[in-house]
Amino acid sequence: MKPAPEIISEIETNGFVWLQGCNRQYFEKITSEIGEIIFVTDVKVNPEGRAMVTSEKGLDFHTDHHKAKYIAWFCIEQTDKGGESILLETNQLFEKLGVEEQEELRNVRLFEHKVFDDDEDTYPFMIEENGNRSFYYSFWLAKEGISEKGRTAIRKFQELTNQTEHIKFKLNPDDILIIDNHKMLHGRTAIEGSKNRFLKRLWIKEKSFTI
Ligand SMILES: [Fe+2]
Repeated sequence: MKPAPEIISEIETNGFVWLQGCNRQYFEKITSEIGEIIFVTDVKVNPEGRAMVTSEKGLDFHTDHHKAKYIAWFCIEQTDKGGESILLETNQLFEKLGVEEQEELRNVRLFEHKVFDDDEDTYPFMIEENGNRSFYYSFWLAKEGISEKGRTAIRKFQELTNQTEHIKFKLNPDDILIIDNHKMLHGRTAIEGSKNRFLKRLWIKEKSFTI
């Protein structure tokens, strides 16, 4: 099974890595090596729950909390119909926008749910540092405080997520998916059929290396 540095370099190249036929021990080992685990969620269908992550509906493209540099999923059970993972490279979409829309989005801050104590209410759609772009995109949280032009630019970006060819595959039990949450959008198709889909999801923060 692949060691952590190889996985990180694959994620840097492709934005994600999909590892088939692994096991739980390897998942725990690899995820603790690539960064610091800051949040763990059981992703299961809960028709009574209000959270989107536990709904059976399809989930449009988005990012998770900005503090998660990586999101890792381990598939324990999978439904027999639907529940496919979908991925899209965020910068590829951003580049398709006009210069004015890009400019608008540089100034847009989106609402973010408070998960950690030091979280602010909003976070920038994009942060650019040394030519390196990181994205945060929660389209359903595009609420107050955003200009009309900013809203139009978000709408345009959202349209692009639906018009652009995306990566789609289905995780099987014992599969691992790890994505760079700052570079890739993710979503999933509706969970139908047996609906016994069960994934472990980890939010992973980059380790800060000091020399
Ligand atoms: Fe998500």
